[in-house]
Amino acid sequence: MNPNIEELSVFCKKKGFVYPSSEIYGGMSGFFDYGPLGVELKNNIKAEWWKTHVQQRDDIVGIDGTIITNPKIWEASGHVSSFTDAILECSKCKNKTRADHFIEDKLKIDTAGLPLQQIDEIIRHHKLKCGKCGSTFNESTGFNLMFKTNVGPAEGSTAYLRPETAQVIFADFKQVTDTSRVRLPFGIAQIGKAFRNEISPRDFLFRCREFEQMEIEYFIRPDQTGKCPYVDEVMDYELSIYSAEMQEKKKEPKAMTIREALENRIIKTPWHAYWLSHEHKWFMSLGMNPAHLRMRQHLDEEKSHYALDTWDLEYKFPFGWKELQGMANRTDFDLKQHIKHSGKDLSYFDEETKSKVVPHVVVEPSQGVERAFLAFLAEAFHDDKERGNIVLKLHPKLAPYKVALFPLVSNKPELTKKAREIYEPLKKELNIYWDSSGSIGRRYARADEIGVPACITVDFQTIEDSTVTIRDRDTTKQRRVKAGDIKDELRRIVN
Ligand code: GAP
Repeated sequence: MNPNIEELSVFCKKKGFVYPSSEIYGGMSGFFDYGPLGVELKNNIKAEWWKTHVQQRDDIVGIDGTIITNPKIWEASGHVSSFTDAILECSKCKNKTRADHFIEDKLKIDTAGLPLQQIDEIIRHHKLKCGKCGSTFNESTGFNLMFKTNVGPAEGSTAYLRPETAQVIFADFKQVTDTSRVRLPFGIAQIGKAFRNEISPRDFLFRCREFEQMEIEYFIRPDQTGKCPYVDEVMDYELSIYSAEMQEKKKEPKAMTIREALENRIIKTPWHAYWLSHEHKWFMSLGMNPAHLRMRQHLDEEKSHYALDTWDLEYKFPFGWKELQGMANRTDFDLKQHIKHSGKDLSYFDEETKSKVVPHVVVEPSQGVERAFLAFLAEAFHDDKERGNIVLKLHPKLAPYKVALFPLVSNKPELTKKAREIYEPLKKELNIYWDSSGSIGRRYARADEIGVPACITVDFQTIEDSTVTIRDRDTTKQRRVKAGDIKDELRRIVN
């Protein structure tokens, strides 16, 4: 049950998940603050991602780089010259419009961040005309999306807030290979803030000006594109595939196994196949509905200049199918650019072949935290008419609070004492909260609305036999369990 985006943003503000930033001064479009519940949910998403993508793998290590870097990084990466949003101006009525929004409305393709030349080619190729007067457009002009700042008091010290975390990984590539025991194939991961001066931020958290990314650059030896040691794990895994060809032929996406997609050359490399499945599985493991996920291949005209092949993991957001995560094959473009611009040797000595190589980024899984946050919330949001309240069915691993504990009534000191005895040790292990105000029904409803998977009630029977009730958020079923078994019960629920 997908709520609409206004409903979600109102809900997020009301419950303390997300607020408009600096609202007392009128706010700032594209900037959001996370409230007490939002920060927990966001931290849980990042922790789950880091656990699965870094800590539980032998082939990926993490870094945490700076937001402001030497500006030469962004010259080398091409962001200074071409990280622009294109503006279209009508040759006759002079109406100005944002090219990617205009093209997306007309052709249903995402062209955000493409160079101006490519935008103009798309406009020409599809004979797109001004929406107001039907005339042709002038050549598009660019607006650079990077935020500028000054470092120190000196003149000419312009630097940029990073528009993606990826480049910091490339710039640190040599230091990571020199100081850690990674051997190709391996990945370097990073979670951190990114900033883009979006011309028109929209759809709540979907397109913001300040956001976070969870990115991996996965490096392989250039001759190993066809050899992914993990692909057998996913051969029978099924994905909803929407290839470039299907889009061009106006076909619908098709469910198929990875084996089928590889045999038919729909997905070109086993590495891409593996990572598409891996990322899909991660969302599934945290409660996503597979009907709301699909893999869409970029059309040639959508692909960034550095990308050999790109697939987006798309989610059926309340405002339509949109990119949740991008997975591009960036080849050796970035390392080679940094070699050229820095003059440093960023090649890697491969022990197996006893030769120096510039590794290829065969896949860059790049996930925005805000988009994951929004998708998990949309997925979890249930307006339960029978209960008369929202039930936020978040996966217990993501839920801000894992448990709520209630003394049945608040005016009986012996009950409060018993409940505190149970509450205090649990608080040291789990994010649990205490609620003793209002009727039990009201307390259950409050807990449901913020996604608490289990509520424990301490009643008069607890004083006699040390048992409590545990109530399940999704079924509302209650069970009596021994107070001594609560930790095990909760561990089972959360994991
Ligand atoms: N390093 C590659 C890269 O940054 P991208 O497609 O521009 O690629 C990757 O961004 C992901 O970052 C997107 O799939 C999305 O989840 C997130 N993202 C990008 N721009 C965003 C914005 N303005 N607001 C929120 N999330 C954004």
